[in-house]
Amino acid sequence: MIQFQMFDHQPERCEKYHQMLKDNLPVLEGIGSEADFEKYGDSLGWFDIDTWANEAELSAIEELAARVRRDADVFVLIGVGGSNNAARSVIEAFPECDGPEIVYAGNSLSPWAFEQVMNKISGKSVYIDCIAKNFQTLEPGSAFRVLREYLYETYGDKANERIIATGSRNSLLETICKEHGYSFVEFPQTVGGRYTAVTAVGLLPMAVAGIDIRALVKGAADMAAELKGCRDITQSAYRYAVARNLYYNEGYRMEMLASFEPQLHWFYKWWIQLFAESEGKEDQGLYPISGEYSEELHSVGQFLQDGSPVIFETFLHVKDPQASMIVHPDGRVKDDFDYLNGKDFREINEAAYGATLRSHSEKMPCMVLEVEKLTPYSFGESFYFFMYTCYVSAGILGVNPFDQEGVEAYKQRMFKALGK
Ligand code: PA5
Repeated sequence: MIQFQMFDHQPERCEKYHQMLKDNLPVLEGIGSEADFEKYGDSLGWFDIDTWANEAELSAIEELAARVRRDADVFVLIGVGGSNNAARSVIEAFPECDGPEIVYAGNSLSPWAFEQVMNKISGKSVYIDCIAKNFQTLEPGSAFRVLREYLYETYGDKANERIIATGSRNSLLETICKEHGYSFVEFPQTVGGRYTAVTAVGLLPMAVAGIDIRALVKGAADMAAELKGCRDITQSAYRYAVARNLYYNEGYRMEMLASFEPQLHWFYKWWIQLFAESEGKEDQGLYPISGEYSEELHSVGQFLQDGSPVIFETFLHVKDPQASMIVHPDGRVKDDFDYLNGKDFREINEAAYGATLRSHSEKMPCMVLEVEKLTPYSFGESFYFFMYTCYVSAGILGVNPFDQEGVEAYKQRMFKALGK
């Protein structure tokens, strides 16, 4: 369950919002409709969770993950953009999981970054998964080559047992897997990278790390049922999608997703990619940014409160941090913090959140999305909630949320420079 609330003190804007909720209902009615499946069918494979996260898929993922977990010290997730962000956001949120260390490669072309990867895996039992939908992307393709070479040098003929590739059916990557005896995992043809959180693309690395992927899938499925079961102006994702479009129309150009939980550090990256690549086209779209509080209240907080009025804020508020830390009275050192005596950081963090929301909402529109606590289940809910919102929001904006032709511009020049 994700609760949505708006904090907007301008009555005229609130009136416009209610009008927009009524006016855009045809967009909501079109979501997942036959017409949309005709239009976007090659990209809507994520819409029904069961299509790519059914019992057969989950069992196969768990079986492969168990094999890796038995023997690996390190699992290298090779992928970029939508291919690694979702898995990383969950894996890094639960460092207490008992799986092999997860190392990320193929998300950069920096030789320094590559050296760090090689240092991390050196001397350890290594398995790799190269995730690449079209297997043309330079970052994963080049990293796969270097890491394959390392595995052959280290394990000789047995290297193939340590190589997994997640790619499209009938692709070169599948052929390579067949020819060389690597494990092949299907990258759903009907799901674009940034919508793959609840498919084998995201779930396999999560399962290797020890995340309860069944709980995550259940969270996504429950959220799908909730959103599909409510198709009127009270639906939370629709209200959120309409609000962000209202603020865009009102001249705001950036949406900041802000939270007081550092556990969400990598989730922001997933969220930013989802919205930037889905909506930033045809000279339109909100630029998504993140606010990591309370730390960044001491940097961008100043801009938000007093700077150019181009940003509105969406707080992702976690009600129960599932942790506690009491500040005890200090009998030795006399500092000026006795007002904290006996207080729990739960209460202190919550006070900072409340104060920030009140102060920022005096300056800019603020919204709150509230989750009970961060668990694999709530990550599943959140993935689905934001993917669905993005689909609706792009519909209101009038852009196709599933393509990303803009990223080709630099690629063509780069390929030319490299003699491809
Ligand atoms: O969301 C997307 O579709 C993209 O960000 C892709 O995930 C990214 O470009 C990587 O693509 P590929 O898996 O084909 O290498």
